[in-house]
Amino acid sequence: MTTRDMLLRHLKKSGEAWISGEQISAELNVSRAAISKQIKKLRDQGYSIESASKKGYRLELDPDLLLPAEIRENLKNRVFGNKDIHYFEEIDSTNTKAKELAEQGAPEGTLVIAESQTLGRGRRGRQWYSSHGKGIYATIILRPNIPPMGAPRITLMTAVAVAKALLSQANMDIRIKWPNDILVKNKKLVGILTEISTEMDAVNYILVGFGVNVNTPTQDFPPEISGIATSIFVETGKVQSRLKLLQACLEQFETYYNMFKQNEFGTILQQWKILSKTMGSRIVVDVLGQKYTGKILDIDDDGVLILKDDENKIHRIFSGDITLQ
Ligand code: BTN
Repeated sequence: MTTRDMLLRHLKKSGEAWISGEQISAELNVSRAAISKQIKKLRDQGYSIESASKKGYRLELDPDLLLPAEIRENLKNRVFGNKDIHYFEEIDSTNTKAKELAEQGAPEGTLVIAESQTLGRGRRGRQWYSSHGKGIYATIILRPNIPPMGAPRITLMTAVAVAKALLSQANMDIRIKWPNDILVKNKKLVGILTEISTEMDAVNYILVGFGVNVNTPTQDFPPEISGIATSIFVETGKVQSRLKLLQACLEQFETYYNMFKQNEFGTILQQWKILSKTMGSRIVVDVLGQKYTGKILDIDDDGVLILKDDENKIHRIFSGDITLQ
């Protein structure tokens, strides 16, 4: 364990009590100067540490920041959250940053995380509202050995992983809306943005970005989305640890991605259908302005939506926006 880690452990253990530099240096068997250096390092990393003369140091308890060291603590994963984590207090978009890193060769498992986004992106050029410290804004870089046609499966897989993580942390009646929204009572809780870079007939990299509205109160949502967006806090009335939820998302992601790589997409799709609760539902699908009304017959093995319209015609919808009726 490094001096930094031991120091952090001491500060956490002391809770609200002050701990003097002298005491820490004696217990860790390092100089006072080394302690000051490590305190500065921790502060630079985002920890809020109070200091007062004659008292010593005290850590702000449970600030629920998504700091890399906190994400890694007790995380069961080998890859996601355990490789490079790029952490930002504020960034334009974690997907944009991840793209830049992927272009520079960042490996599979690289995670970009931010406390807030100034230009959070959604599908079809929409914006993703990303207020400071209230949600999870994360992007994972993947380099799967699959043809571009297989990429939509990754979106469905991510929706299952995030849905399972949500269910493990909060009691809510969630449903997945094709292809990638997670809703509660028809309001949006989670959005997933999958972006792909291809070379000839192979995938170069895939960026999986997900945004979760965690502790956002209703009045914080901008007026244009306040009627269609929700958060865990709004639905349960309880403040949720973003850190625990992110760790759960990463663990579920690793489980389902391993299944995906072991050609077990069929099992994932089954889970998706159960969590979606929309098989057989009447919907309107908007495909670039063209609207189709009918029933969802199925989601096939490639993640394509099969719609039976009111004239009993079957449509295969690769991408679009659906509205449940
Ligand atoms: C959608 O519902 O249209 C997708 C929203 C995806 C939002 C997330 S937040 C983290 C990542 N970075 C972005 O800019 N977008 C995704």
